[in-house]
Amino acid sequence: MKVGVLASGSGSNFQALVDSLHVEGSPARVACLVCNVPGAKVIERAAKAGIEAIVVDHKAFANREAYDTRIADALTSRGVELVCLAGYMRIVTPAFLSKFTGRVINVHPALLPAFPGLHAPKQAMEHGAVIAGCTVHFVDEGTDTGPIIAQASVPILPTDDEAALTARIQKEEHRLFPAVVRAIATKAVTLEGRRVKRTQVIA
Ligand code: GAR
Repeated sequence: MKVGVLASGSGSNFQALVDSLHVEGSPARVACLVCNVPGAKVIERAAKAGIEAIVVDHKAFANREAYDTRIADALTSRGVELVCLAGYMRIVTPAFLSKFTGRVINVHPALLPAFPGLHAPKQAMEHGAVIAGCTVHFVDEGTDTGPIIAQASVPILPTDDEAALTARIQKEEHRLFPAVVRAIATKAVTLEGRRVKRTQVIA
């Protein structure tokens, strides 16, 4: 299965996907990266991995729909079947989702439905939560509201600051996100309406 990754920043999740999926016998591989931020570190990571980076600055577009149509067309023309949002800091509009119905997934640094949106680890700490984690979910038109596929939890320690907690969560993201991609590629996970069907435990 050909995977397109959308990212805006450092790209540690992009790297984890490449490292995990680009091995003998893998059911999925990363076909290309789309990045909306020229100069982002993830572009360098793609170059090192020999993966095409499509850099499209969203600021050059009149509206979100025009931008989303451009990148959806770029992915379609490369045969992408599954889209992974990996630290992609933009809302995805119906103009994009309608071209990849049920085939867009996102990784979020919280145990959804708690703490959607920005700075999720900080939100969790500020609420006094003692458990945090990450969620991989199908993307719908809301912000972090789509059907949940898999989650992993980590403790919040009294000594944590935002950076320490984020690092602990990201370690889990790097494991969980590729595991979900493999499960989708092998049809161990499917989506029926808003129901996620699993034939194996993804942990
Ligand atoms: C990841 O922790 C991801 O969960 C988060 O951005 C980080 C990107 O890191 N995404 C969101 O907060 C989306 N709501 P990376 O660029 O090193 O993969």
